[in-house]
Amino acid sequence: MQAFMAKYRIAWLPGDGIGMEVLEAAEVVLDKLELDAEYVYGDIGWQFWCSEGDALPARTVDLLKNVDAALFGAITSKPAKAAATELAPALQKNLLTYRSPIVRMRQLFDLYICLRPCKAYPGNALNFKEDIDLVVFRENTEDLYAGVEFGPVPPELADALAKLSKPFAPFAKLAPDEYAVSCKINTRAGSERIVRAAFEFARKFKRKKVTVVHKANVVRATDGLFLDCAKAVAKQFPDIAFDEANIDAMIMWLLKNPLNYDVLVAPNLYGDIISDLCAQMVGGLGFGCSGNIGEKLAVFEPTHGSAPKHAGKFKVNPIATILATRMMLDWLGETDKAAALEGAVAQVIKEGKVRTYDMGGSNSTIDMAVAIAAKLLKQSMHTQSRNDAGGLIPYTRNRLLEQAAGSSASASQLSVTNLAKTTI
Ligand SMILES: NC(=O)c1ccc[n+]([C@@H]2O[C@H](COP(=O)([O-])OP(=O)(O)OC[C@H]3O[C@@H](n4cnc5c(N)ncnc54)[C@H](O)[C@@H]3O)[C@@H](O)[C@H]2O)c1
Repeated sequence: MQAFMAKYRIAWLPGDGIGMEVLEAAEVVLDKLELDAEYVYGDIGWQFWCSEGDALPARTVDLLKNVDAALFGAITSKPAKAAATELAPALQKNLLTYRSPIVRMRQLFDLYICLRPCKAYPGNALNFKEDIDLVVFRENTEDLYAGVEFGPVPPELADALAKLSKPFAPFAKLAPDEYAVSCKINTRAGSERIVRAAFEFARKFKRKKVTVVHKANVVRATDGLFLDCAKAVAKQFPDIAFDEANIDAMIMWLLKNPLNYDVLVAPNLYGDIISDLCAQMVGGLGFGCSGNIGEKLAVFEPTHGSAPKHAGKFKVNPIATILATRMMLDWLGETDKAAALEGAVAQVIKEGKVRTYDMGGSNSTIDMAVAIAAKLLKQSMHTQSRNDAGGLIPYTRNRLLEQAAGSSASASQLSVTNLAKTTI
């Protein structure tokens, strides 16, 4: 007898604090959508750092090698000193260093696109302006998040910098623990592929303009390279307008004229900054969703953190996570379900009857999820999913599977390719 196999295998990563609550809300809508999926729980977050010295245990990495997608809640991250003191006493002698499990997940699985759509749903009293519809492409694996950091600074590094860099002279005399160095590393290949993803998205979804965000007038080497790559890629998309702005000016212009912008693409740190601003303009952290997308895996999450002060109260807004769930459905090629879910969210926002505290109401996280689930129409839940990439995601899992079929790789082979060689 053949064992029952669900169509999709999804890693379920609640994490810490409100991460667990918003994923319960996602469960409510996924149950109503009757997605043919097996959800496999994975350990991630601060509690695993404290108890095991690893916020992304190897068993979770193994799980991620064998899933079609992952849904992630949020984690708690703390500075180095707190990380050292909260570690289980038996582990303290092991000289372990805490690193964000999200950043590690992005690097380990080469989830190089951080896609953050920010749309003002009509009737949301929290909208900064109506009709805002921005999409941020944030480079997700390089830049100041590369993790190449020194504090205290080793003498070999100080000596090399003193030899190679004139502007380093004022720092050269400092004691190693009087300063710290974080390396901003941007590669040509990494810059080109994120800009290309932004342009491909713009072309596919008939967006008019791509704006590259940088600070190349001051951060000349790395941002200069990013900008040069962007200009070269833009030439290959003559049908789409291209412009550029310094990060500082961009913040001002976005706030002043958000409707002048369409698709934004930026290196990691600037992308992080502009996407929080964009999320705030469409309702705040309760509405900001995010996809970490690579060629083989995608991990979807709300952009907010674990909000410890609200944890355990089931009062936060699950819409960000439900919109991230919608992105996951698009990635899986379940575009009808994705569209139905977004429609349900839009309806609940427009009606304004069910509102969490951030929307000026007193409904719970689960009240909101139940209200959204109630709007999902039966017929849309049972329509066949299409193989084309509707929705929102530039690279769908289906497209990758089709490519793999062409080269006779199976789905499971596809998800583990290259990962065996990768170290954490
Ligand atoms: N992706 C992630 O997991 C992620 C992202 C950011 C911060 N963090 C971590 O989360 C912890 C708390 O960080 P923080 O307080 O700076 O940021 P946070 O995003 O957790 O919360 C900041 C504030 O935003 C509001 N908020 C957040 N999510 C909300 C929601 N769904 N509905 C309504 N209001 C919401 C709350 O007022 C909350 O206090 C820290 O340990 C931080 O490192 C994790």
